[in-house]
Amino acid sequence: MMDFQDENRIITPDFTETDRDIEISLRPKILTEYIGQEKAKENLKIYIEAAKKRGDTLDHVLLYGPPGLGKTTLAGIIANEMGVQIRVTSGPAIEKPGDLAALLTNLNDGDVLFIDEIHRLSRAVEEVLYPAMEDNALDIIIGKGPSARSIRLDLPRFTLVGATTRAGQLTAPLRDRFGVILRLELYTPEELSQIVKRSAGILDIYTDDGGALEIASRSRGTPRIANRLLKRARDFAQVMSNGVISEDNAKIALGRMEIDEIGLDNIDRLMLTTMIKNFNGGPVGLETLAATIGEEAVTIEDVYEPYLMQIGFLAKTPRGRVATPLAYEHLGLKAPETDKKANTQTSLF
Ligand code: ADE
Repeated sequence: MMDFQDENRIITPDFTETDRDIEISLRPKILTEYIGQEKAKENLKIYIEAAKKRGDTLDHVLLYGPPGLGKTTLAGIIANEMGVQIRVTSGPAIEKPGDLAALLTNLNDGDVLFIDEIHRLSRAVEEVLYPAMEDNALDIIIGKGPSARSIRLDLPRFTLVGATTRAGQLTAPLRDRFGVILRLELYTPEELSQIVKRSAGILDIYTDDGGALEIASRSRGTPRIANRLLKRARDFAQVMSNGVISEDNAKIALGRMEIDEIGLDNIDRLMLTTMIKNFNGGPVGLETLAATIGEEAVTIEDVYEPYLMQIGFLAKTPRGRVATPLAYEHLGLKAPETDKKANTQTSLF
């Protein structure tokens, strides 16, 4: 039931069918068009330049961070900047070792193979990936039992770009085979505002600075959400005013979508009020919280928590999750005096 609800949340950072058209048309193609993620971008620029100078392929790259931050976009940019083709697939789509072998043998020299949700590869498929990543080789077992033997096939040189929501979910042998590990961070409202303006320009949507910033501030650090809200805000601007998204009509649009001024929707608010009312603000264990609000623990960790932690509403402590005084304040609730100090301290973790 919650999956269904998740897909219908306008602020879900997960890719939904309605994102397909706009997201593809909005994807920047080169590194200089890509806004934000300065640290990852600067390092990547050097690695790409160096590999090109050597006439080499780029080392395998692991991108990790919350959903919707542009991992697929960045993989496309890597391929484009290296002047090679990209093949896109995902962990769950590669069911058998043979599926991966087929993908690998069909690559051209230097291509990028992008595997989204790489933490969801099966063990058997991962085993095929190791020699491919390390030696550009495919080990094929012929025969069964004592007479079985393995032959090695050469593969084209390639760069594996893997994406995951959490690097910690990867097995150590797989993680160790990535030469470049880049962590993507939630975007600031200023960066998102630039993204909104860029997207508006491409989609022929009119927005002023105030309108763009209003959308950006309510997009929970996530470009995918910002682009989605931009389209909805345009609908309101067209029906309610002259079609230009301003701070005022953006506020009305987002209010109607029940997204509050800092980007929280009813599920975020439910999570925080549950922590406060049922668990006295915490600490509360992840599984307990998940069961109480009827969400999956992984969804809470990957989707809700990163943003609530970034804005300082939630702290992770060794004993569980804690709602901070800022969360109380936002919900118009009074933080207990004694807990206030403890909460401030735990937010330093
Ligand atoms: N669209 C989605 N993510 C983007 C980014 N980081 N820069 C520019 N446009 C984007």
